[in-house]
Amino acid sequence: MENVFILNGPNLNLLGTREPEIYGAETLADVETRCDSKALALGLSIEFRQTNLEGELVNWIHEARGKASGIIINAGAYTHTSVALHDALKAVGLPAIEVHLSNVYKRESFRHHSYISPVARGVICGFGVQSYELALDGMSGILKTKRKG
Ligand code: DQA
Repeated sequence: MENVFILNGPNLNLLGTREPEIYGAETLADVETRCDSKALALGLSIEFRQTNLEGELVNWIHEARGKASGIIINAGAYTHTSVALHDALKAVGLPAIEVHLSNVYKRESFRHHSYISPVARGVICGFGVQSYELALDGMSGILKTKRKG
């Protein structure tokens, strides 16, 4: 079974209590449960993690090489600041999908630039917790095409 790393960055551990009008009422544990069900239905296995530390995300991206076929990443605020995450994703070369719960383009202009997008296969934002399920659908499609090729 192909494995997908789902990596979450800073402040996403506070989901459910953090600005619920923007991010909704579900917790990160709820998101993980949804991802488990979705992955099972798609015949994928997942490794779901969260950290507030940029370097830890870098290490996990490196770890994905050899352990995962793809990476789904919500880098939180590091999306808008981190050249290190951009470089790490580029270095490992696994297909990556960038996700956000909120529609970042509807928000402050500092959220309109992403260091992840140029090294991602696709970006999904604005669908709340469903963004993750849509990303898993997308990753499943990418991996199927890869297998056929
Ligand atoms: C976020 C959007 C980011 O701009 C913000 O810093 C986050 C969450 C989202 O999922 O909507 O922490 O990545």
